[in-house]
Amino acid sequence: MAQSMNDKMMELFRGFSKLTRDERFTRLQQMGALSGDDIKYLKSGGLKDVNLAEKFIENVVGYFQVPMGVATNFVIDNQAYVIPMAVEETSIIAAASKTAQWIREHGTIRTEMLGRNIIGQIQIARVSDFDSFEKLILKNKDHFIEESNREVAFGLVRRGGGVVDIRVRKVPRGVTPEEGHMAVIHVEADACDAMGANIMNQVCEYLKPGVEELTGEKVNMCILSNLVDTRLTKATVTMTGLDEELVDKIVEASLFAQQDPYRAATNNKGVLNGIDPILLATGNDWRAVEAGVHAYAARAGQYRSITRWYKKDKALVGELVAPIVLGVVGGVTKLHPTATMALRMLSVSSAEELSRICAAVGLVQNLGAIRALTTVGIIEGHMKLHIKNLTMGAGASEKESPIVQKKLEEFLSLHKRISLSNAIDILRELRTGSTGGAMTSQETNV
Ligand code: MEV
Repeated sequence: MAQSMNDKMMELFRGFSKLTRDERFTRLQQMGALSGDDIKYLKSGGLKDVNLAEKFIENVVGYFQVPMGVATNFVIDNQAYVIPMAVEETSIIAAASKTAQWIREHGTIRTEMLGRNIIGQIQIARVSDFDSFEKLILKNKDHFIEESNREVAFGLVRRGGGVVDIRVRKVPRGVTPEEGHMAVIHVEADACDAMGANIMNQVCEYLKPGVEELTGEKVNMCILSNLVDTRLTKATVTMTGLDEELVDKIVEASLFAQQDPYRAATNNKGVLNGIDPILLATGNDWRAVEAGVHAYAARAGQYRSITRWYKKDKALVGELVAPIVLGVVGGVTKLHPTATMALRMLSVSSAEELSRICAAVGLVQNLGAIRALTTVGIIEGHMKLHIKNLTMGAGASEKESPIVQKKLEEFLSLHKRISLSNAIDILRELRTGSTGGAMTSQETNV
């Protein structure tokens, strides 16, 4: 049954990028990803209700519109998905869809969760006796857990989650032992389908007076941690039947990103090209995920890639492990009509499932980037699509655009580089009727 649904969706994705917007709507409706009302809403330009914006943030003046598209061809854990992505950068959605198709022809994408708990922190900046403090907290841990669940996290408990553990960490105050230590209590909770920031902050603040009273120590601050190494998401891509030389190049590129922080940063930016647009489309806090991913990437003292590609027998295997903590209830997810529509489009049943999809798309995006980088280079795919933006940026009219685009494409294939100044030059020549200048005056970079 699932297989025939997948086949139907893959058939409807065929030639998707070449369709008109209306045809795309029809296909998405046929897949069950969009309803007639969704299409009406999208066609009317989406959310415009500024009174709703007043409920999200302060000092509202309007909305900032970001384009939203759908990535196609994704089959994750044997399930086909329509993946909404809100992003301003050209070629991300095209690369994700193309790479997903390539993977489908040669292998699989599997995902899993490693742990469930989010973390809250309570800082005791100057603990007089760490060992006694730790002992006291651990002795009373069950009481603290039970009290937090009864008084604050009862909603989570009802949904099968809640506060599940309390630990104490000894953190140096500086580089020398003389500078002493602080004590940091870690509160761990299963936030179910919420991202959990609000509830965790409430739990920690609720525990503060009890901790102070029990230990005689002073709590300095309470807040959740975005380095959620207790709730990691893993995606694995396995592909066979690939050109061996290409596999070797991908493995070498991965080693580069593992070993060199300068490359790791760009590699991880490419991974987040796949993740952030889903977070944005579904109303999730992408800054929290960004912070967590980067902190996790540097957990061993050196910033490294969060993906790894290696050869296993003759197969190419790629893995991504990272904290991708998000929600499908609470926050903006249920208030912003585009976010609720995006969640419906994905048809996800839990925060865990959405997190697994993000991990899968991040890993696929990474493969797409390093495949391009180790073969044709990034310019071809990236800049060709960028030509449209340059043409618009230069101020070409609808009638002038196809001519400017064609000339820019010719310029790109000849010079392997292109910039806004080329588009401006070409447009000027087109308008003045002069010839020849555009190909040479591009040295003046805009
Ligand atoms: C550009 O947005 C992303 C890349 O730089 C990622 C990478 O280098 O892996 C292409």
